[in-house]
Amino acid sequence: MDREKVIVIDFGGQYNQLVARRIRECNVYCEIYSYKTDIEKIKEMQPKGIILTGGPNSCYEADSPTYSRELFELGIPVLGLCYGAQLMMFLLGGKVEKAPVREYGKTEVFVDTSSQLFSDVERETICWMSHFDYISKVAPGFDICAHTVDCPIAAAQNPTKGLYAIQFHPEVLHTKEGMKMLYNFVRNICGCSGDWKMDSFVENAILSIRKKVGTGKVLCALSGGVDSSVAAVLLSKAVGKQLTCVFVDHGLLRKNEGDEVEAVFGPDGPYQLNFIRVNAKDRYYKKLAGVTEPEKKRKIIGEEFIRVFEEEAEKIGAVDYLIQGTIYPDVVESGLGGESAVIKSHHNVGGLPDCVNFKEIIEPLRDLFKDEVRKAGLELGIPEHLVFRQPFPGPGLGIRIIGEVTEEKVRIVQDADAIYREEIAKAGLDKMIGQYFAALTNMRSVGVMGDERTYDYAVALRAVNTVDFMTAEAVGISFDVLQTVMSRIINEVKGVNRVLYDLTSKPPGTIEFE
Ligand code: XMP
Repeated sequence: MDREKVIVIDFGGQYNQLVARRIRECNVYCEIYSYKTDIEKIKEMQPKGIILTGGPNSCYEADSPTYSRELFELGIPVLGLCYGAQLMMFLLGGKVEKAPVREYGKTEVFVDTSSQLFSDVERETICWMSHFDYISKVAPGFDICAHTVDCPIAAAQNPTKGLYAIQFHPEVLHTKEGMKMLYNFVRNICGCSGDWKMDSFVENAILSIRKKVGTGKVLCALSGGVDSSVAAVLLSKAVGKQLTCVFVDHGLLRKNEGDEVEAVFGPDGPYQLNFIRVNAKDRYYKKLAGVTEPEKKRKIIGEEFIRVFEEEAEKIGAVDYLIQGTIYPDVVESGLGGESAVIKSHHNVGGLPDCVNFKEIIEPLRDLFKDEVRKAGLELGIPEHLVFRQPFPGPGLGIRIIGEVTEEKVRIVQDADAIYREEIAKAGLDKMIGQYFAALTNMRSVGVMGDERTYDYAVALRAVNTVDFMTAEAVGISFDVLQTVMSRIINEVKGVNRVLYDLTSKPPGTIEFE
């Protein structure tokens, strides 16, 4: 599809995906490529603009990431951010060196508002700085258009050539007017019309899926999670009954979740999907009996998923296409897109069932960030409680129960978790916490209830906020709310006599409690 596009060239900065997301928020489609990408490939894509990201290196050192100077002569506007700004100056004849004062954090910056880049920006504004090196002399043809107390060249421009260099990070929210600057660049300087909108994405995706699939048969493993739900509904709008969705209920879902998924996607739901729910609880519990090691539990749950899926696929017969809910961060993180390749250690249950006979995989959400998947979901009319569902691991409660998984323990953690979620929602905190859940420790201890000695389990409550799931902080929930949750769990969930709150951040902990 021919759509206007901005290219982000990644020099290994920690905010590379954030840059791309912000550009998309300006309704401009954008993709991330490594600085190792050949310039011919960039030219072929005919981008309307190019952005060079930050990175951890010093551009004047011999083996630092660099790019062909030709990039600045293509007649395409280029915006360099932090390392990208320094590299632009360095390659074009300016000077970059170690800064006498290292700037880090929120910094007041004075901008020249006559620059198109800073149009509508306050003359004195707050930006996010993080640099050791600085531009000590601009390249010929450039003029300075922003400075701070310690940094004489906080931004430079050559408007005739459409070249702009910013020392700070407009993509992070600490830069108060950063979005305005990025908007000015892509919409005004690059001249993008802003044609990247979720309603047209949905419309175009439906048309192109229809064209591709023709009269073929399509199979989808539906977990009820956001990505697979949006992918399934998109496919069903495109090819209707040619799609069959298999939902494996492994008995490790949250309380009532299996029924909730069936209510939406099942035969009585609004989508009229070909929906097969496999109640595989018993076989999962049997396989998990006696297993205590978390990685082993993950493996068993994943493998069993493949077996169940395989059996169902066999009943359906040969299919032409298999749907996967891959999203853009997966593409970038698997090293196919940007530079800072972080290999994902998690995968959805079972990953790709390669045992199933199919011709091709369709990944309808491959270009989307998570927030865009959610917007597409709303566009498709999927209920909000599903679209804004918090992340739930593929192996489900199997990894929120420490030690052996039994039906009894699943019941305890389901009930405790349901109470916790209910109270968090009642307190109006559900939209303010990234991820929260109850886990069942393997610890039993002595208590007293109604004059009787008890020897029961301890439930652990967890609540974290995270930006990228690589790090996370525990959330400080008010003591009143925690006490209500505690007393309800002790009173309503048989088998629990203690409730603990997990304060651990990630690292050293993980988000899950396994
Ligand atoms: P951890 O526990 O590694 O989790 O800090 C980071 C995020 O990933 C989720 N998670 C998973 N998601 N399949 C998934 O789809 C998995 O196997 C899996 N394990 C963890 C976790 O809930 C958190 O959001």
